[in-house]
Amino acid sequence: MCGIVGVLGRHEAAPILVEALKRLEYRGYDSAGIATVNAGVLDRRRAVGKLVNLSDLLVHQPLAGKSGIGHTRWATHGAPTVNNAHPHRAGAVAVVHNGIIENFRDLRAELAEDGIGFQTDTDTETVALMAERFLKLGETPVDAAMKTIDRLEGAFALAFLFDGEDDLIIAARKGSPLAIGHGDGEMYVGSDAIALAPLTDRITYLEEGDRAVVTRTSLEIRDANGALANRPVKTVRVDTARVDKAGHRHFMAKEIAEQPAVLAEAIRHYLPADEDAVRLPGAGLDFSGVQRLTLVACGTAYYACLTAKYWFEKLARIPVEVDIASEFRYREPPLPAGTVALFVSQSGETADTLAALRYCRGKADRIVSVVNVPESSIARESDLALPIHAGVEIGVASTKAFTCQLAVLLILALKAAADRGEMTPEALSDHISALRGLPHLMNTALEADDEIRDAAQQLSSARDVLFLGRGLMFPLALEGALKLKEISYIHAEAYASGELKHGPIALIDSMMPVVVMAPKDALFDKTVSNMQEVMAREGKVMLISNPAGLAAAGDGVWLSIAMPDVQDAVAPILYAVPAQLLAYHTAVAKGTDVDQPRNLAKSVTVE
Ligand code: F6R
Repeated sequence: MCGIVGVLGRHEAAPILVEALKRLEYRGYDSAGIATVNAGVLDRRRAVGKLVNLSDLLVHQPLAGKSGIGHTRWATHGAPTVNNAHPHRAGAVAVVHNGIIENFRDLRAELAEDGIGFQTDTDTETVALMAERFLKLGETPVDAAMKTIDRLEGAFALAFLFDGEDDLIIAARKGSPLAIGHGDGEMYVGSDAIALAPLTDRITYLEEGDRAVVTRTSLEIRDANGALANRPVKTVRVDTARVDKAGHRHFMAKEIAEQPAVLAEAIRHYLPADEDAVRLPGAGLDFSGVQRLTLVACGTAYYACLTAKYWFEKLARIPVEVDIASEFRYREPPLPAGTVALFVSQSGETADTLAALRYCRGKADRIVSVVNVPESSIARESDLALPIHAGVEIGVASTKAFTCQLAVLLILALKAAADRGEMTPEALSDHISALRGLPHLMNTALEADDEIRDAAQQLSSARDVLFLGRGLMFPLALEGALKLKEISYIHAEAYASGELKHGPIALIDSMMPVVVMAPKDALFDKTVSNMQEVMAREGKVMLISNPAGLAAAGDGVWLSIAMPDVQDAVAPILYAVPAQLLAYHTAVAKGTDVDQPRNLAKSVTVE
């Protein structure tokens, strides 16, 4: 969702704000804006679209001042126009906001009764107007901000800047993450540590309900009850080198290519060398008494959970329920004794997943999370947080985080199988070897890049694409379809191969490419039958399989993509690579914005 940043510095703020916003642009790119205070005077610049438009504007209309706030927007209330862009200003107050103010209509009605008019369609303007009204009633800037925050319902990370105040930012967090960065005689505010990485690695994370009064030399935090709160300063190292494209055309291409390396890293953390055993961090988790697993996530992370269901059920014999967080949280499902609730999230900040986790608090025996950001809200609110070690993921379409999530979930399923006596030491050892061999096989899979680029060229003229898979390949088919639609804007759907004849087969004709993901495993022959049903109706089949599978598929396949042989259980991790490359090259062929596809944002901190 939106990204926010603030600086109370010793140098000109505008370039620092723009640089920090660049690092937050993955959170939204509908518009961007900054406000500064220069010699006591508050002013702002805003532009629609990518950050580069704001940078261009600042060349012609520079903004001086050493204090400022900035925002990159993912539109919720109101179209992406300059008028609706943040910072929102009302008189002496400028505000940037990430989240949704749910009671903004009531607040607007209240303000309207006072004769206060509105310039924008946004919920955020209401915040600025409320604070301005308090100022006019004689409140100090700090009290005006605090009294405003008291009135807000919903989810927000906020930063306030005031005319006449060169050394003050008020920040608040409820439902959306916010970090304070400590410099030398400088202070910063940011949606995450990535934004602040070049400025400082000394970070204080605000907790739920916290409000902070920030000056260049001080930080005072009060909790939701107004009590002074002592939040630690942590050293957070973000690998800044990883936040560039390293010669690739897109972040997504770079992140696909670095999967062998990050997977090796993830595996190394959980499978110590020379030992056929799984090591979990902290107090770990013993699965022997676990009666049931409830896995909850959104989007790609949800598909990782669906894959994990096959692993936990088949290898460890644990009944598993998988749910989409936005459904789970409102369904109020009972959680019987012995349930472990597991949440998967790259960002660790997804609003629905976090709400689902909070629902499980006090109901599930343990709350476990699989996250990429160890300092995230989901990680911090879990009994056990398992990092996936994928490194910063910038491309909006998740790639390396997905495969690292899968690797950690498979490792967890192996631990469960071992704890419950469902797997012999030999079988455990085989699976561990297969996992250790995966980075090498991924390198081989990446060599299919040219072949996949050619196939993607052909796919790029399609209007609709169907993905099919059976067993472990079914969730991967869902992920392949999601990747294709989100970055190439081609309509894509996925079905379990066996479901084809129960309806979707009606769609098949010569215009409908069907991507079949099917290594030659125990279910392969059944999938071949489903392929034949497609081809008999002039459907064009693109088969992704290993050499034995491609040979056994027979004639009539439209396009074939070869993957190396791989052990069955780890196959979905490997086959994620061609699914990602197919979406990537199709999007490139269509000329879409691969790293920042329309309407999407990386971190979904609103419902
Ligand atoms: C798709 C994608 C999204 C995310 C989803 C959950 O490529 O990235 O579907 O997987 O928004 O995000 P996290 O994992 O941060 O909870």
